Amino acid sequence: MKIGINKIGFYTPHMYIDTEDLAIARGVEPGKFKIGIGQDKMAVVPKTQDAVTLAANAALSILDQEDIDAIDYVIFATESGIDHSKAAGVYVHQLLGLNEYCRSIEVKQACYSGTAAIQIAKGHIALNPDSKVLVLSSDISRYGLNTGGEITQGAGAVAMLITRDPKVMVIEDQSVYKTEDVMDFWRPLYSEEAFVHGKLSVIQYIKLFQDLFTAYKEKNQVTLAAFDGLLFHMPYTKMGLKALKSILENESEQEQERLIKQFNIGKYYNEIVGNIYTGSLYLNLISLLEQDTELKAGARLGLFSYGSGSVGEFFTGILQKNYRDHLFTEQHQQMLQAREKISVEQYEKVFMDTIPNGIGNIEFDISNDPAPICFAGIKDHMRQYINKEQ
Ligand code: CAA
Repeated sequence: MKIGINKIGFYTPHMYIDTEDLAIARGVEPGKFKIGIGQDKMAVVPKTQDAVTLAANAALSILDQEDIDAIDYVIFATESGIDHSKAAGVYVHQLLGLNEYCRSIEVKQACYSGTAAIQIAKGHIALNPDSKVLVLSSDISRYGLNTGGEITQGAGAVAMLITRDPKVMVIEDQSVYKTEDVMDFWRPLYSEEAFVHGKLSVIQYIKLFQDLFTAYKEKNQVTLAAFDGLLFHMPYTKMGLKALKSILENESEQEQERLIKQFNIGKYYNEIVGNIYTGSLYLNLISLLEQDTELKAGARLGLFSYGSGSVGEFFTGILQKNYRDHLFTEQHQQMLQAREKISVEQYEKVFMDTIPNGIGNIEFDISNDPAPICFAGIKDHMRQYINKEQ
């Protein structure tokens, strides 16, 4: 049975900062952020959005009534969870008005968990061929003002509808994966911000990529030529480029040019949104599919998923006939064009405006947030979400 991505879309908040402004404010040469890190803009999340609303807004933009009635599994991948017990998937289930005979869960392993969610979905569909599974990868990347990681922040969510006979991309069964216990990035339960050993995280990312890419090629008896493109978990676009270059050293000039040219086309949405953790690899996929006019149906793409801590997986997908007709390109471009550029001062204000721990009651003004689904406050310790379209 062919199983894979039938629909795929993303949502990012309505505000961003230019990384040149951030560089100037931090006394850094702008070239470091623009070229050295490879980020052009960075999404800024208002307090009226959280992992739940980002995901619900992403899903809302791709699902029709038929999907809403048929989805029987919501798998929510995040490392920005809002509750230690209740799954974020349950909130989304309610906000979208999904069929009640549905499983809703949350999964975690840093930025890798979106891939784990897809693999769980594949197993479920293999046993229940008519099922439609909603996979959500939603995060707010947050390191702190004036930290080394600040430039690699961002916010957003990717929603994917996984089905049999998918219209966009079949996910092939051959896959290699690996776990290595490394403290490169983590977020203790008491902390709003991630802790990171930045240099170690870069080394570990590249190591797992090289190990898995070599293992995949050996297991499946293929060479680099088997791939029409390579996609990466993209905490910042230079990270993907570094990984790609690390396997191109002994390749022909033509092969190097082919893959680097394509990488540069595909990185666009990541470059202007920033790190969205669990969704970053899939944002790279959307970006390539929507930006690369030369890709053809039948193309085989290799995907590298990395989650600090660490777990990685390398797997492949095959683009389906007329896949372009099933993308949401115009919708995404409109959303990105409608974003508002804010100053570093405004960003810092938004960043600091967090909800104090333990607050049981609070109300937010959601009138300035153009998103259809918003986080409106807390009542008796219960988060209040509003779908303006319901
Ligand atoms: N013009 C052009 N390039 C410049 C420049 C200039 N004026 N000044 C510096 N650069 C280049 C440097 O040469 C360097 O290039 P290379 O990486 O090719 O050597 C690049 O800019 C970055 O410079 P530094 O290494 O000095 O940057 P840094 O020490 O400030 O930290 C970082 C970079 C480690 C990525 C840091 O931002 C960080 O810790 N980020 C968070 C962790 C992270 O994203 N890790 C990625 C792997 S882990 C993962 O993928 C999971 C996840 O999502 C978190």
